[in-house]
Amino acid sequence: MLQITKKPIGMGKERMCFVHPEDPRLAIKIAKGKVNEQSKREIKFYRNLQKRGETVDSHIPKFHGLCETNKGPGIVVDLIRNYDGEISRPLNWYLAQGFPIEEFEPRLEELKQSFLKNLIIFNHDMTIGNLLVQRTSSSKFRIVAIDGLGDVVAFDWLDRFAFLVRRKINRRWARFIARVYRSREVRQQREAASEHSQSDQ
Ligand SMILES: Nc1ncnc2c1ncn2[C@@H]1O[C@H](COP(=O)(O)OP(=O)(O)O)[C@@H](O)[C@H]1O
Ligand SMILES: [Mg+2]
Repeated sequence: MLQITKKPIGMGKERMCFVHPEDPRLAIKIAKGKVNEQSKREIKFYRNLQKRGETVDSHIPKFHGLCETNKGPGIVVDLIRNYDGEISRPLNWYLAQGFPIEEFEPRLEELKQSFLKNLIIFNHDMTIGNLLVQRTSSSKFRIVAIDGLGDVVAFDWLDRFAFLVRRKINRRWARFIARVYRSREVRQQREAASEHSQSDQ
C-alpha cells in the first residue's frame, strides 16, 4: 500500500489529487467520500479506451491503473506538468489573469478535434477549471482535459456507432463552449476590455 504524506496538489469537489509518492511524473486521484460516481465513470472510461487498444494522444492524461493508499483507493494518471516541471494550471486561472480567451481558441479547437478523432465522450464536468494549460515550451502550449471524461448516461450501446458518438461530442462541445463564454472569468475580461476601449475614446 502506498503511503501518502504530502499535501494534495489539487482539490476538486469530489476528489483530492496527490503527487505519486514513488514517481513525481504521476498523480493519484482519491475520492473524498466513500463511493464516487465521478471516479467510477472515469475508470470505466479509461478501461474502455484500453479495450479499444488505441494510443490516445496527449490531450488527456495517460491512465496507469488503480492503486491502494493510506487515504483510500486511487486512480493513477500522468501528472500534467509544464516543460519546466511546474504543475500545469487550469484555463480559468489564465482567464482570470487576463489572458484573452481568443488566445486559447485554436488550442480548444485542437482538443475538440482530438475528441472527435479518438471518440472521447465527455460530460457536463468539462469546465475551464478542469482543463489544464500545459506549456510544452516557452511559447507553445496544449490543453489537457483532466476531469469530466466519460459519459453520464447508462444506455451507452449506441456508442458502438462512431457517427452517433461524433454527433454527441459535437452537441456537448457546443454546450461546453457556450458555458465558457458565459463564465465569470470571460465576462469579466470582456467588461474590462470594453471599459478600456471606452476610456480610449
Ligand atoms: N492529471 C493531473 N495533473 C495535474 N493536476 C491534476 C491532475 N488531475 C487532477 N489534478 C488536480 O486535482 C484537482 C482535482 O481533480 P479532479 O479530477 O478535477 O477532481 P474532481 O472530480 O473532484 O473535480 C484538479 O482541479 C487539479 O488541480
Ligand atoms: Mg475537477
